[in-house]
Amino acid sequence: MSVELTFSEHFAVITLNRPKALNALSFGILTELDRALDTVAASSARALVIVGAGDKAFCAGADIPELMNRTLMQEHQGAGLGQAVFNKIAALTMPSVAVIQGYAFGGGLEMALACTFRVATERAKMGLPEVKLGLIPGYGGTQRLPRLIGEGRALDIILSGRTVDAVEAERIGLVNRIDSEGSPVEIGQRFMEPYLKHSLCALYFAREAVLRGNQVSLDEGLRIERDLSTLAYRTNDAVEGMTAFTEKRPARFKDH
Ligand code: CAA
Repeated sequence: MSVELTFSEHFAVITLNRPKALNALSFGILTELDRALDTVAASSARALVIVGAGDKAFCAGADIPELMNRTLMQEHQGAGLGQAVFNKIAALTMPSVAVIQGYAFGGGLEMALACTFRVATERAKMGLPEVKLGLIPGYGGTQRLPRLIGEGRALDIILSGRTVDAVEAERIGLVNRIDSEGSPVEIGQRFMEPYLKHSLCALYFAREAVLRGNQVSLDEGLRIERDLSTLAYRTNDAVEGMTAFTEKRPARFKDH
């Protein structure tokens, strides 16, 4: 198996395990990842950490030899597969973090962009180098990158195909934090820890409000916020959270 899924305490951990090819995303790996994400979605995990095996790369992108000599419809279906799998990451009710240790290029960075958060190690290098292959990003990069860091910066990275180091990535908001202490799994779990004390319902509604709001006008976004914030009031966790405040004690959330 090139995709390993483990569970520990609150965490689901997905490891891309094809280090000899820098964890490049063959269609077989994408299909394995798809299945692993279904298992994660059905589990009681409260956060997902995605890492790459080996010390060189998180993921070097789509498997380049596999991209060659396909029909137009196969190329279209291939992009559809990558987008659908990464959409599953974005749609999980639990938040997710990609720990970028070493290289994250092309589809590898696009996978990280589908996560809620990204943490880079000091020597991380990332980019969307598809133009160097005569291609453009096809697993969500042209859509998620500008939404995350703004159109001007995204166009610079996409049109140049250049490599961004960890310091620049943190400065422009491409990654949330630089952290090189411990293994990638430890880094990811440590990053997620502060979020885990909150209700998963509140975290999910807040993420949905931000993600859906990103795609619509301000008026429409405010309507989405009104609806989702009203839904949050209906959860037992909201009752518990407000009651705990008035009783001056820590809240005990149960994710419902
Ligand atoms: N696909 C398939 N194999 C890959 C790969 C990829 N994307 N990236 C690296 N590999 C393989 C190499 O072929 C090599 O295999 P062999 O040892 O069998 O020759 C092995 O991984 C190690 O790679 P390098 O020897 O090249 O390692 P390096 O340290 O010299 O360079 C690198 C590392 C800069 C990441 C370089 O490997 C590289 O540029 N890789 C391609 C990155 C890229 O262009 N990614 C975008 C792919 S297209 C895409 O993702 C489309 C999309 O939007 C979905």
